[in-house]
Amino acid sequence: MSAQVFFITSEIYPFSKSGGLGDVMGALPLAISRLGMPSAVITPFYGRLSTAEFPIRLFMSACPVGYPWPPVTADIYTADYHGLPVYFIHRGEFFDRRFYYGEHSGDYFDNAERFIFFCKAAVSLMEELGDPPAVVHAHEWQSALIPPYVYFRRRVSPFWDKTATVFTLHNLAFQGRFSSRLFDETGLPDEAWNAGGVEFYGDLNMLKGGIAYADAVTTVSPSYSREILTEKFGCGLDGVLRSREFHLHGILNGADYNVWEPSRDPVLPGVYSAGDLEGKTVCKRELLRELGLEPALMERPVLGFIGRLRGQKGIDLVYRIMPDLMALNVGVIILGEGKPAHERKAVEFMHAYPGRVTAVVSYTEDLAHRIQAGSDIFLMPSRYEPCGLTQMYALRYGTPPVATAVGGLRDTIVPWPADNATGFIFLNSTPGEFLEAVRRAIRLWEQNREAWRRMMVAAMGQNFTWERSGRRYIDLYRGIQQGLRPDVE
Ligand code: ADP
Ligand code: GLC
Repeated sequence: MSAQVFFITSEIYPFSKSGGLGDVMGALPLAISRLGMPSAVITPFYGRLSTAEFPIRLFMSACPVGYPWPPVTADIYTADYHGLPVYFIHRGEFFDRRFYYGEHSGDYFDNAERFIFFCKAAVSLMEELGDPPAVVHAHEWQSALIPPYVYFRRRVSPFWDKTATVFTLHNLAFQGRFSSRLFDETGLPDEAWNAGGVEFYGDLNMLKGGIAYADAVTTVSPSYSREILTEKFGCGLDGVLRSREFHLHGILNGADYNVWEPSRDPVLPGVYSAGDLEGKTVCKRELLRELGLEPALMERPVLGFIGRLRGQKGIDLVYRIMPDLMALNVGVIILGEGKPAHERKAVEFMHAYPGRVTAVVSYTEDLAHRIQAGSDIFLMPSRYEPCGLTQMYALRYGTPPVATAVGGLRDTIVPWPADNATGFIFLNSTPGEFLEAVRRAIRLWEQNREAWRRMMVAAMGQNFTWERSGRRYIDLYRGIQQGLRPDVE
C-alpha cells in the first residue's frame, strides 16, 4: 500500500540518533500508520548507520534528483522497520562520514549543501514513487526546505496539488543559517528570497523556509508553542512565528514505552513496576558498582543527569551547585557529551569527588537506561526545553525529576507539593533556585519515604502515549487537507 504520510527527517531511531528527534521519529510514524494513515520515512544514509536489527537493501539506483535542479542522482536504500518503509538517501560524498552534523571542532563546512541535497532528493523520490502523498511532514532545519519545495512545485506539477505540508520545530536554536551565496544552490525561485521567505537578515535561513511555507507548523509541546512567540524564546524568529500564529500548533511528544519500560527493559539488571519496586534497588546497587561509586550511597539519594552538555540543558547549573550537593552527601552521575569545556569540567568533578561523582563522556544508549533506573532523582535544569523526553523516561522509571518550569517540562511534571506530584519544579534558571528545588527533593527523600514512594508511583503511572499524540497529528492532517493553504504573500 502506498504511503499517505511521508516523514522527512535527519534522524530515526534505531538507525540514527543524536537526541530526541531520533526518538520521536522512531515512534511517531509507526503510531500514525497504526492509526490508519500508512506512513513512510525518508532519511539520509549515514556512514554511521546502525542496521543490525533491520537490514537495509538497495531499492533504486540512480534516482534522478532532477529538474529544475542539475541532473544528479542518489541511490535509495530501504529497510522494513516494524512494517514501516524507511528510505535512505545515499550519496557518499555527503553522508558517508563519522558523524551526522559535525565533529568536535564544529559543524561540517558543507552542511547547507548536504541537507539541500537531502531535501531535493526526498522530493524527487516521492515523485518517483508515483503516488502523491496526502501529507508530507518535515522536521527541523535539515528538512525545512521540503515545505518551500512542495509549495513551488505545486505551480508546475499537478502531482503536489492535494498534498498538505506540515513542519515541526523541535528546537528553534538550530536554524540552518548560511551565507546568501547558498540560496542559488537551493534552486528556489527568486521570490522566495525575501523577508516572508527564506531570507533572514541577509542570510539563507532554512528553518524559516519551513515556517513560512508549510500549511501547518507544529512544535513539540503546548507551552513551547506559546514561548516561541516571545522575544525571550523566539531565537530571532518570534516575529515570523507570530505572523503564522494561526497555523502554529503545540502537540506534546509521546514516550516510546516499547523502548522505555522498566518492567521489561532488557538492559537493566533488575526489572520493576509501580507495584513491585524491589528491582529498582537492584538497579541502583548495580549502577553504583558499574560506575565505581561508593556502596554507601545505597543509603543516600543518587542524582542522575543525561543529556547534551550544552547551555540549553543547564549543565553549568549542575556544576555551580556541585559543592553544595557534595555537602549534602549525595551521589551525582552525569552522562553526556557536548561542549568540550563542559566535558572537561564533568571529568574534573569526578576526580575531585571520587566515589561520589561519576562522569561518562560518551553517547551510550544502554547506560542511559540504567541511569534512569538506578538513580533516585533526575536533574533537568534546562533553560528552555521544547518538549524533553528524558524527564518522561525518568517519570516512567520512578525517578522524580527536578526541572525548570519551561516548555515541555512544565507540561509533563506535576510539581510537589500537589497530592499527585511527580517531581519538583523551579521558576528561574539560577543556581540558587535550582539548589533550593534539589534540597526540597532530598528533604522529602530523607524525611518522608512514604510520600516519596507515592511520588514514584504517581510518576510511573504517567502515560504519554504516542497514540494520543498521533491522534492529534491526524486531526491536524485532516484539518489542513480540507483546504487550508499557507498565507505566504
Ligand atoms: P534533546 O533532544 O534536546 O537532546 P530529549 O530529552 O528530547 O533532549 O532527548 C534526548 C535523548 O537523547 C534521550 O533519548 C536521551 O536518553 C538521549 N541522550 C542524550 N545524551 C545521551 C548520552 N550521552 N548517551 C545516551 N543517550 C543520550
Ligand atoms: C529537541 C528538543 C527536545 C525535544 C526533542 C524531540 O531536541 O531539544 O526538547 O524533546 O527535540 O522533539
